[in-house]
Amino acid sequence: FTCDLIRNFSIIAHIDHGKSTLADRLLELTGTIKKKEIGKNEQVLDKLKVERERGITVKAQTASMIHTFGGKPHVLNLIDTPGHVDFAWEVSRSLAACQGALLLVDASQGVQAQTISVFHIAQERGLKIIPVLNKIDLPAAQPERIAAQMQSTFGTDPDDIICISAKTGKGVEEVLQAIIDRIPPPNGMTTAPLKAFLFDSLYDRYRGVISLVAVQDGILKKGDRIASCHTNKKYEVQEVGIMHPEEIPTNGLYPGQVGYVACNMKESSEAHIGDTLHRVGAAVDPMPGFKPAQAMVYAGIFPVDTSDFPKLEESIKRLALTDRSVTVQRESSTALGQGCRLGFLGTLHMDVFRQRLEDEHDANIIVTAPTVPYKLVYKNKDVYISNPTEFPDAIDVSSKVLEVQEPVVKASIIVPEDYFGDMMDLCFTHRAEDLEHRYLDAGTGTSARIMLNCVIPLSEIVTDFFDQLKSRSSGFASFDYEEAGYKASDLSKMVFLLNGKPVDALALIVHRSHEDSIGKEWVKKLVKVIPRQMFEVPIQAAVGKKIIARETLKAYRADVTAGLYGGHVERKMKVLERQKEGKARMKRMGSVNLPQEAFFDLMSSK
Ligand code: GTP
Repeated sequence: FTCDLIRNFSIIAHIDHGKSTLADRLLELTGTIKKKEIGKNEQVLDKLKVERERGITVKAQTASMIHTFGGKPHVLNLIDTPGHVDFAWEVSRSLAACQGALLLVDASQGVQAQTISVFHIAQERGLKIIPVLNKIDLPAAQPERIAAQMQSTFGTDPDDIICISAKTGKGVEEVLQAIIDRIPPPNGMTTAPLKAFLFDSLYDRYRGVISLVAVQDGILKKGDRIASCHTNKKYEVQEVGIMHPEEIPTNGLYPGQVGYVACNMKESSEAHIGDTLHRVGAAVDPMPGFKPAQAMVYAGIFPVDTSDFPKLEESIKRLALTDRSVTVQRESSTALGQGCRLGFLGTLHMDVFRQRLEDEHDANIIVTAPTVPYKLVYKNKDVYISNPTEFPDAIDVSSKVLEVQEPVVKASIIVPEDYFGDMMDLCFTHRAEDLEHRYLDAGTGTSARIMLNCVIPLSEIVTDFFDQLKSRSSGFASFDYEEAGYKASDLSKMVFLLNGKPVDALALIVHRSHEDSIGKEWVKKLVKVIPRQMFEVPIQAAVGKKIIARETLKAYRADVTAGLYGGHVERKMKVLERQKEGKARMKRMGSVNLPQEAFFDLMSSK
């Protein structure tokens, strides 16, 4: 296939607007997969169990289709992108492999926060955008109104919009034709040195990492010796082919083509999205703007039963092989024993990993409260910390820390006007700054929608922000964010003391304005989950030397007088007295044992 017979495109959309359904229809229409019973809602491109359960796409999947237009077979390469904010960066990189994108919008919901962010990414990359309105079969669909919204938001010409129902298949043929007519073919030279853009990877238990590439120039063949521009590591190509939709080996991949390469990469972390592959000895200019994905949310994972650690570590390592964006380090805690500290792209990514550990590896685990990476600015260096235990007890002269900074994001929320006040309130209580808003469409009364933009600390988002956003807007608000660097912030370490002793695994980094509420909330939770002891246990939240909140866990009083008959009051008093002494001694000497189950309850309670 020469370049003019190839089209590389992606479907971009807000979550749930029907991307996977449309992808399935396209695959069916081109005979790439067999037609399924409509309404079965089983998507070919979605593969992970968690994805099916949650109905979202986490892992991007790519497929090549062959379709005949004007008597000539064409190759259409669908480069699928994940549909969640955590993976925005991956979306951006995978779009670099395409020349065009279908911008899919649900005709009953209209433009949502992610519609806007993916539109901008595609536009910045200079892609040809084909606007598509989906779900026109729904009674609530308002294609004219949404078309007007797209015109005012993106400058879309309403005549360019294709109206479809991915569910019934109506209009999907027209989409195929538009891909051919409107999206420019890739261009590349067979004779130029090999240059292949790596935009995704899969993990195969037997062959290791399979990279997905878009060949820009040159030919990629079995036996080629290739190298990565990013790591300089060298590999020998064992197999190349196309995804149709499963792997089908071919003789080679030519300019403009999209396919897979198996070249004995051992770990997914070797396949950097956005990397450029070239032939050994024939270096090329790498694709610009490459940076490896950065973990933005960290949490400790510990086994409920401490003796399970070796098994858990093995499971985590195996799972991490298949997920290039997770980072793993060992961590040990006095309260929880051996565990691992993991870095994730975001909280959804964390939930997905945790669920896979539980489902696929049968792990029984405790996950500590998530934290973001904080930056400690010293005179001559910056130190990033991803674990609250590494945070200085007090930020003062002795710590030599000049400033503490935290990551912030630019957030946008789209919400019906009625919920605007609630959303403003939500933003304020989560330390949002630079709030601004504008009307998205000139709808009347309750249907007008507002877009709210602000800068908000990432740490505020990793806790309960998303849940609150959904509940306080009755599910109507949509939300998206992008990283916006670091900002100085008044943060300190909060520790929790049980019987005067700090519990390392419970340490948190909190903003001054939240100290009271968080301190109170956590001691309340703790007092509920810790089993009573023979003595009274104070549970305290402290910042530096200051106690912020306190609860007291009442002693569990063993009935030491049970064995005494009759009314020997004196003796009874004596026994009770002795018990009291004993308790005082225990309290002085003994530490409170915080069982793993209590941790588990604590971390899973909301
Ligand atoms: P993510 O995987 O989360 O990115 O979502 P998605 O954009 O892939 O959406 P998906 O294809 O999973 O569709 C979301 C829901 O909308 C599913 O329940 C689909 O059955 C439904 N749906 C998709 N297209 C149509 C359509 O044309 N009409 C109707 N009525 N429902 C549709």
